[in-house]
Amino acid sequence: MKHLMRKILAALLSASLIFSLSACSASSGEGQQSASQSADAPAQTAQAGDGKILIAYFTAAENSGVDAIASASYTTVNGQAMGRLRAVADMIQQNVGGDLFSIRTSVVYPTDGRELIDYAAQEQAENARPELTSHIENLDEYDTIFIGYPNWWADLPMAVYSFFDEYDFSGKTLIPFNVHNGSRFSRTIQTIQELEPGATVIEDGFTVSEQTVADAAGDVASWLEGLGF
Ligand SMILES: Cc1cc2nc3c(=O)[nH]c(=O)nc-3n(C[C@H](O)[C@H](O)[C@H](O)COP(=O)(O)O)c2cc1C
Repeated sequence: MKHLMRKILAALLSASLIFSLSACSASSGEGQQSASQSADAPAQTAQAGDGKILIAYFTAAENSGVDAIASASYTTVNGQAMGRLRAVADMIQQNVGGDLFSIRTSVVYPTDGRELIDYAAQEQAENARPELTSHIENLDEYDTIFIGYPNWWADLPMAVYSFFDEYDFSGKTLIPFNVHNGSRFSRTIQTIQELEPGATVIEDGFTVSEQTVADAAGDVASWLEGLGF
């Protein structure tokens, strides 16, 4: 039964990723240039910020090597192509300020949607911990950490497990946000609570379908207002 459900989910995901890829290849040349610049940028290190807010996110689009523009993870916002999680992270930053932090790994994730699905399933089956190449140098500066990730196989991507393994967020507030294709958060917020028992994990995270990310700015602003920002 589980095997059958996994097959159905894989078929649905493939269809969705093919759609995303074709939408992506239709994006403007200007957007493509921006995206490849973003993907080629060096691994980030969070710097001391005034706001004491960190917006950390993982997107395959920034972990797919030089051909990342072909990644199934790209969306186009205001004419700029970028990873979907990066798009939501930008929307959060526009409202609350703070510093962006891209979770980078030494793994070069496949840009082909089907290959990425299989690769991620294998990583999950092996309970892998991809090596991280970006590190928060000054965690003490931050009280509030937004953490953004795609739903991968009804779970956190394994690179996000690596991220939670690396840091002890005790005493800090963690605010999840995610992008999905129907499963919303699955159990990921409880998982974060289990991984970081000393942190306050906000259960009212922000979740958005991959198909509506580009139009999510208003919903992001309302959500943040509801949280008291
Ligand atoms: C490997 C993989 C597994 C996925 N598994 C799920 C899933 O179980 N449920 C779901 O709703 N969406 C799933 N999706 C869709 C992603 O959550 C969605 O495409 C998200 O936008 C990907 O983030 P990104 O664009 O920043 O890479 C999956 C996508 C990939 C690539």
